[in-house]
Amino acid sequence: DNVAKKRQMYEDILKQVTILQDMDPYERSKVADCLKSKNYTDEEIIIKEGEEGDTFYMLIDGNAIALKNDKIIKTYKKGDYFGELALLKNQPRAATVKCQKFCQVVYLDRKSFKRLLGPIEEILYRNVENYKDVLKQLGLDTTCIEGN
Ligand code: CMP
Repeated sequence: DNVAKKRQMYEDILKQVTILQDMDPYERSKVADCLKSKNYTDEEIIIKEGEEGDTFYMLIDGNAIALKNDKIIKTYKKGDYFGELALLKNQPRAATVKCQKFCQVVYLDRKSFKRLLGPIEEILYRNVENYKDVLKQLGLDTTCIEGN
């Protein structure tokens, strides 16, 4: 049926999301059930620095960049994720994430993120440590990483 089809489609998609590769297939199928999909074009803004955020994104096609003070702090390709920081730390968005030409994302709301990504929360936190180094190297404010 339709539900099974949707699940299968999203499960296949999620296999390509690097951060989810450590989850077992059952956990991943639960994530698949809660996903929504959205497309962006041109230089559309996906996340705006300073705004409240309630969404965790996984990029499944296309390219995007993260910016802070007009400096590029990260580039994203298929299989990458962003938007976890505001949810982990309950703070405003630390950076802007912008589409490059075309993006397809799948996303989770805050509740699903907390409930379903518990098993990989440690990995998410560990990766936040890399953000600090990037910000320091570019001479940017690191208070969005510190604390909590
Ligand atoms: P969030 O703060 O929710 O929204 C902006 C996102 O940019 C952030 O989550 C991270 O996923 C992402 N990001 C990428 N690089 C950095 C960085 N160096 N510092 C902070 N956020 C970053």
